[in-house]
Formats: sequence, structure tokens, C-alpha cells
Amino acid sequence: MEKAQVIFQQVPFETDGAWRSPIAIHHDDVQVWGITLDVTDSELPRAASVLSHDERGRAERLISEGHRRQSIAAHAKLRLILSRYCGAPPGQLAIRRTSDGKPFLSDYPSIRFNLTHSHGRALIAVARDREVGADLEQVRREVDVVRLAKRFLSERDLAFIEDGDPAQRHERFLKTWVAREAVFKADGRGITFPLHRDYLELTGDETKGSLVLGDTASDQRKRPVRFLSLGPGWIGAVAAEGTDWTVTLCNGSESQINRGT
Ligand SMILES: CC(C)(COP(=O)(O)OP(=O)(O)OC[C@H]1O[C@@H](n2cnc3c(N)ncnc32)[C@H](O)[C@@H]1OP(=O)(O)O)[C@@H](O)C(=O)NCCC(=O)NCCS
Repeated sequence: MEKAQVIFQQVPFETDGAWRSPIAIHHDDVQVWGITLDVTDSELPRAASVLSHDERGRAERLISEGHRRQSIAAHAKLRLILSRYCGAPPGQLAIRRTSDGKPFLSDYPSIRFNLTHSHGRALIAVARDREVGADLEQVRREVDVVRLAKRFLSERDLAFIEDGDPAQRHERFLKTWVAREAVFKADGRGITFPLHRDYLELTGDETKGSLVLGDTASDQRKRPVRFLSLGPGWIGAVAAEGTDWTVTLCNGSESQINRGT
């Protein structure tokens, strides 16, 4: 069966008060949005206007203008999407960070989210009352992934990367990588070295798997991961606390976000 693909959406910056009709999300659901990070000169002030002082400061500190614009777009679009779950205007959401840097909604503790961005695209994963993590990477064929795997990953991950079609090695390496990042971001610790104690175990059609944690008690050793179909050249995954969850792709029209569903 072919997997549904994430559609990377524009997300216009006008809100039209759509936050007044919140999107429902259940405990067993992890909702995933794909967004693009383009922003025109005329959109930029509106996008920046919904950001917090901290978010604007972080964007301003980026050296490249392209990265500054993408940071403003990512955080403004994140706020637009979260406003639909919280039922509050995007500019009024209090987004704080844990001591390890994981952002959270301090006034809406049930709504959990995670952002990942790379080369003009981003994924936002949203869940209710369970921690969630996401990671997105662009395939870069110039990288020597076997060397990296030998240096950093487990024997089992190295065997997975080296086996099978050599043309798919970069994709397989990135699967082991995004699985780690998604799980570690769900846990709020970010990427944590060493990485060689853990390994990826794939199931069925390879859209699902578990990151098996080498240093963890047996009841929490296997952490479920869902791989997302993102189109050629992109690999991404989400992970969440527990095992009783499934992924819903929020691939509706742009109006779903800013004008109500
Ligand atoms: C956080 C981290 C996982 C980001 O990975 P990445 O592949 O470079 O970037 P991604 O695009 O996937 O994710 C970045 C987003 O993850 C979120 N994030 C940041 N720290 C996080 C954490 N500890 N856990 C979960 N999510 C985190 C943020 O929204 C961030 O975007 P922003 O900086 O624009 O707000 C990586 O930097 C890391 O592992 N850091 C180690 C922890 C650390 O150094 N913390 C800093 C302490 S102040």
C-alpha cells in the first residue's frame, strides 16, 4: 500500500480569527503539518509581528539573511498552527523553553508540539498530553554516510546502512538519524552522544520502527517511530511518548489553518 505523502503548505500569515474554531486532537493522535518557509518582503512585517521578543531576538542573531527570514517564517507559522489548537491568537501564545531548550506552551500544557526545519521546509508535530518529537533532513549525497556510521552508530545500524541497494544508503543512514533525533527531541534532551548503544529496528513496510535504546530499562527500551513520506530527497520521522498513537497528516488546504476547517 502506498503511503500518504506530507504536503508542504505555504500557510498565509493572515489569521482571519480562525483560532476561534480550534482543531480537535485526541490523545491517540499525533498530527503532522508540513510547511514551507518562504516569506515575501511584504509578508515579513506581519510574520514578525506575531513573534515574541525572544523569537525576534533569536532570528536577528542569525548571520545569513536567508536564515533570518526562515526563522521568522518558521516561528510565525508555528504560532499560526498552534493558535488553532489552543483557541488563542498566535501573537498571544506564551512559548517557553525547558533548560535543554525544548519549546512548550506554558498556558496550554495539554497541547504538546515539536518543530523541525531544514533548507526551507519544516515539520510541526502536535499531540495532546504526550511528548512529541520530529526531525526532517535533506538527503546530501556528497556525505560519506558509511564513514559517519562507522564512527558514531551501532554495528546493527551500520549493517542496515551497508546492506541492500547501495543507491539507498543515504536514505537508510538518515532513517537511523531522524529516528534518534525524533525520540531524543520527544524526550526533550536533543541529540545525545554516544549514539552507538542504540539501533533502529524496522517493521513491516519500513514506514514504522522502533529506536531500541541500549542504556534504558527494558520496559522503555523500544521507542516507536513513524517515518513520513516527504517526497524524493527528504527523510523525516516523528516519535511520541507511549505506544498507543498514530499519525494524521494535516494536508488540508491552506484555508484549513487560517480560515477554519
Ligand atoms: C535541539 C536539536 C535536537 C536541534 O536539532 P537540529 O536537527 O539542528 O534542528 P531541528 O530543526 O530538527 O530542530 C530545531 C528545533 O527543535 C526545537 N528544540 C530545541 N531544543 C530542543 C530540545 N532539547 N528538545 C526538543 N526540541 C528542541 C526548537 O523548536 C528548534 O527550533 P528553533 O531553534 O528554531 O526554535 C539539537 O540542537 C540538539 O540536540 N541539541 C542538544 C541539546 C542542546 O544543546 N540544548 C541547548 C541547551 S540551551
